[in-house]
Amino acid sequence: MDSLHSTDVIVIGSGISGLMTAICLHPRKVTLISKKKLGEASSSAWAQGGIAAAIGKDDNATIHFEDTIRASAGLSDEKIVKIITEEAAKIIKFLEEKGVNFDKDYTNNFLASQEAAHTRRRVLKVNGDSSGREIIKSLIENISKLENVTVLENITVDEIITEDNKVLGVIGRHLGQNVADNVTFFKAPNIVIATGGLGSMYEHTTNPRDIYGEGIAMAARAGAILCDMEFVQFHPTGMDVGLDPTPLLTEALRGDGAKLVDENDFEFMKKVHPNGDLAPRDIVSRELQRLKDLGHSTFLDCRYFTNEQMMNSFPSAYSFLKKANIDFTKEKIPVTPAAHYHMGGILVDSEGKTSIEGLWACGEVSSTGAHGANRLASNSLLEAFVFGKIIAKSINSKIIKVKDLPWINVQKYLPKEKTASRVRAKKYIWQLRSVMNDLVGVYRNEQKLKKAFVEIDRIEREAKHLSAKLKDMILVARFVTYAALLRKESRGAHFRSDYPNSNNNYLNRRKTTLKELNDFLSSKEYLEKVA
Ligand code: FUM
Repeated sequence: MDSLHSTDVIVIGSGISGLMTAICLHPRKVTLISKKKLGEASSSAWAQGGIAAAIGKDDNATIHFEDTIRASAGLSDEKIVKIITEEAAKIIKFLEEKGVNFDKDYTNNFLASQEAAHTRRRVLKVNGDSSGREIIKSLIENISKLENVTVLENITVDEIITEDNKVLGVIGRHLGQNVADNVTFFKAPNIVIATGGLGSMYEHTTNPRDIYGEGIAMAARAGAILCDMEFVQFHPTGMDVGLDPTPLLTEALRGDGAKLVDENDFEFMKKVHPNGDLAPRDIVSRELQRLKDLGHSTFLDCRYFTNEQMMNSFPSAYSFLKKANIDFTKEKIPVTPAAHYHMGGILVDSEGKTSIEGLWACGEVSSTGAHGANRLASNSLLEAFVFGKIIAKSINSKIIKVKDLPWINVQKYLPKEKTASRVRAKKYIWQLRSVMNDLVGVYRNEQKLKKAFVEIDRIEREAKHLSAKLKDMILVARFVTYAALLRKESRGAHFRSDYPNSNNNYLNRRKTTLKELNDFLSSKEYLEKVA
């Protein structure tokens, strides 16, 4: 590939947000950059839950709005929640027109599932718990018919190039080799980051290992404002059988009667929350972690499901269980909380714009305010679809073409140095993941968070020439730890054992920048008390 590629819009990421934005940008000239083969490197392809949409007879957008606000623990942006919940029915119609076959009963009514903290059955699925994979398949089919979209696979983006707070393009590295002449400057006046969340920063995650927060890292280095970085949602029912990443057992299993039990078959959630096994996800994850820390074992009991029922309604769970050699009709399934979704990310407004002109963020990488401190299950695909559509509309309403950008000395921006060996980086990446799991995980406190900073500093020192991936992970780890240290309260997914209650002084979404983080890391307080 040439060292310069020019286009009107670059979309980075091939999950639901990237694909939806690219489809809706028609007829604009778009280049979609994917780290792997299209459809292979996104969390949304692994989504089991589906899309939350209030389309049942007993439901409406107002009830969906209220459930979302309640789950978000006081930190969501009501305007954004209103937009996504009101758009849901239109998104479902749009997807049906694009060929997505939602599960329906014999009278052609949607088959909706029940998930935690929803007061109605409103999670729409495609082929049971294979929703993400099936939806992505349909979107890819649509993309392949669009002549305005160029798809480039096996390219990772390392840096966003800006001048005077305006984007000029990005530096992409062709995977497989890591030499300096194997990079391209992608020049465009509009860049949409759709790289997903940061699950892979943690030892246990339900996300693909390619999802480690690089979109957040590159946006922060370019000067973008981030928000809500402390809020990492842990899913309580990751399958704890030694597989990596941790296979997800969808909440819909509990919606259909599966039970959380300990080694004595005690249904422990019954005494913790009136909604029992379907209590909000943060509460369930904390109880599981608490029991584990006390030496108990935690399981999902699906013994009353038949093989046929599991195979038809939960084909993904069925295949994970087969892979792990678990006969769920006879044995309980060991489960553990696993990092699942990041509510924070790159701050965007109601049009999906970041604080840098021409830079947009869509889906989990962004922080729209839709989820607050705790995302309501299956609202994330909805948010990705709604914002993909909104961002495309905003970009299309103001025609800026690549020819309107100034001439660029491409060589000035292309990296001169080789990056460090990926093999050597792997050891440090795993060390960082265990630091995040143990010290910045489900239970946090000041002592743990300060220790996390010390460990992150050590990893950076010992790893020396950092690979691009480790460099990004270290930066994002610091952002999450810093935000968690500053929030001296417990709210939603962020729990501080030294401040176990919520505190109204913290009833605001916290913004931050790389400059603020660097000032903290070089402050007297940090150097004396932490490092
Ligand atoms: O349990 C689940 O199926 C997860 C859904 C979600 O995270 O939205």
